[in-house]
Amino acid sequence: MNNLNKQTWLITGATRGLGFQVAMAAQQAGANVVATGRNLQKLEQAFGDTKNMLLLELDVCNEAQAKVTAEAAFQKFGSIDVLVNNAGFGQLGLFEEVEQTNVKVQFETNVFGLMSMCRTVLPVMREQKSGLIYNISSIGGSLGFENASIYCAAKFAVEGFSESLAMEVKQFGIDITIVQPGFFRTDFLDQSSVQFGTIEIDDYAQYGKALNDVYHSKNQKQPGDPKKLGQMLVEIAQKPERPIRLAAGSDAVEYLTTAIKKRQNDLEKWASYSHRTDINE
Ligand SMILES: NC(=O)c1ccc[n+]([C@@H]2O[C@H](COP(=O)([O-])OP(=O)(O)OC[C@H]3O[C@@H](n4cnc5c(N)ncnc54)[C@H](OP(=O)(O)O)[C@@H]3O)[C@@H](O)[C@H]2O)c1
Repeated sequence: MNNLNKQTWLITGATRGLGFQVAMAAQQAGANVVATGRNLQKLEQAFGDTKNMLLLELDVCNEAQAKVTAEAAFQKFGSIDVLVNNAGFGQLGLFEEVEQTNVKVQFETNVFGLMSMCRTVLPVMREQKSGLIYNISSIGGSLGFENASIYCAAKFAVEGFSESLAMEVKQFGIDITIVQPGFFRTDFLDQSSVQFGTIEIDDYAQYGKALNDVYHSKNQKQPGDPKKLGQMLVEIAQKPERPIRLAAGSDAVEYLTTAIKKRQNDLEKWASYSHRTDINE
């Protein structure tokens, strides 16, 4: 498992951004890579004929396609050692300005797609008695952000799911690592990926626009280097012990530290109330 030359990595959403860089890093380190994306042509343009690589069309919302992909990956390389659940996008916008149908698409992609990939690959890993699943979350999976309630809700779901699943599959030698990137320079905030609310509510007009402008201004100026994230995931996959949560980026460490301290402070400040609800027998 820890010899990268014999590992097979399966990566979702590899046409660009973090997924592309993780795929390249794993391939360059000697792994077999199954790079998947919802548009085969885009994948071919991105990777050309890179060796030890299988390119497969996969929309993570399509459960049947997920099954076919895992089977093809196993047939080609004989194992699936690392699954990188990366495919996703940001549904931003104020909660009341996001249509419920868009909320559902966000969960279908970022949560249910990720779960369906786990469901598909776990039997292979159980049989192997080894495996590693990287579930790409976000700092928004541990703390809330204005204008990102739907995205954060989806990433919080990813984290609750992953933390619990990790306990269930540890016995089979399978590790789950939640990756929490800060702001990385990908197309995440580009209009080719990100979605904003489509409902206009007068009460929110100025506030919403100011928040959207903040995100627009960060596009392609984010501090995180996707290539370095890819290399870090490759390095950690080779370690005998992997963390349940892995922050990526100095900004991520800062946001998460502040959030954890705030939670701890709130817990302590209100503890006398919290203890009052016990049944005293
Ligand atoms: N960049 C950041 O600052 C940041 C921070 C925290 C977390 N993340 C997370 O990192 C992951 C990758 O994002 P990124 O930054 O690399 O953004 P990106 O450059 O926009 O890439 C997103 C990738 O996900 C794919 N994708 C979207 N929906 C899909 C679906 N239904 N099935 C298969 N693939 C799908 C896209 O495919 P197409 O090319 O076909 O659109 C693309 O390959 C996401 O889960 C995101 O939430 C990013």
